[in-house]
Amino acid sequence: MKIAFVGKGGSGKTTCSSLFVRHLAAKGLPVVAVDADINQHLGVALGLDEDRAAKIPAMGERLTEIKDWLRGENPRIPSAAGMVKTTPPGSGSRLLRVGGDDAVHALGQEVDGVTLLATGPFNDDDLGVSCYHSKTGAVELYLNHLVDGPGEYVVVDMTAGADTFASGLFTRFDLMFLVAEPTRKGVGVYKQYTEYARDYDVAIAVVGNKVQNDGDVEYLREHVGDDLLTWIGQSPAVRAFEQGRTGVTLEDGNTAALDRMLAAVDARAKDWDEFLRQAVEFHVKNARSWANRAVGTDLEAQIDPAFRYPA
Ligand SMILES: Nc1ncnc2c1ncn2[C@@H]1O[C@H](COP(=O)(O)OP(=O)(O)OP(=O)(O)O)[C@@H](O)[C@H]1O
Ligand SMILES: [Mg+2]
Repeated sequence: MKIAFVGKGGSGKTTCSSLFVRHLAAKGLPVVAVDADINQHLGVALGLDEDRAAKIPAMGERLTEIKDWLRGENPRIPSAAGMVKTTPPGSGSRLLRVGGDDAVHALGQEVDGVTLLATGPFNDDDLGVSCYHSKTGAVELYLNHLVDGPGEYVVVDMTAGADTFASGLFTRFDLMFLVAEPTRKGVGVYKQYTEYARDYDVAIAVVGNKVQNDGDVEYLREHVGDDLLTWIGQSPAVRAFEQGRTGVTLEDGNTAALDRMLAAVDARAKDWDEFLRQAVEFHVKNARSWANRAVGTDLEAQIDPAFRYPA
């Protein structure tokens, strides 16, 4: 199951991603965490020290290696140079599995039973449809080639703001958690996100964060209605984690919220045909808007009409 955490800057995307990832790992579930934010904080949030976190190989710096491995023997993709972030898998491509022994997961760092992948830091110029060497392009390729089953989880800590919607990346998830503080700014991005999401049939659930009282919950309900899945309180345990304290346990109410989030993910039905259809749709869009020109060939020819994901 592919899961993203999105929301306004500072809303708690990294915190909630790391709590959710730890929650899954504590249950012994297979989980890959992906840091896809401009500033890379997920490693430290998962308990790595700064030095080890800084040493995680950046997927964004290994794009050629990743592309070469993924394209495998696919005759429609004769070189890494012709492979762009939206190039879909086809016959001869190599697919990835959660926990798989492959060149992409080999870039990951193990942290307490979690495999952590990182895009590497990037800047605003790396976002959007027209960037050839996009760092988040590595994540898009990864997700497009990953055949995950029920009970297997990939959790992506995304960059702040609506830039997420500038590429097809946001259609790659079974569920997106929109982290929202109970403030005007916090719920401000909600409307924008849900409009994009509706156009593309993307599932979004709102997770309130830093909630302090019933009034906060009421405020969230008033603004996001039934899209409010659950909420995480302003948490002394989170603060203690941030202070580097060990042996801290998360409050029961917050653990219950994480269970509700997991149940919401597990309730999502996989639709691999739709997943492929959207991959192809964004590849065509990408090819026509800039990639054909950038690469100098017709990239729509990379689409293999006979390809199906093995479900
Ligand atoms: N539930 C919580 N309880 C207590 N503190 C929290 C909670 N959620 C987040 N915080 C604190 O709020 C700050 C911002 O959180 P975090 O870094 O997770 O946000 P973010 O959305 O990832 O930010 P950015 O947009 O910069 O990536 C951090 O100091 C974090 O410890
Ligand atoms: Mg963050």
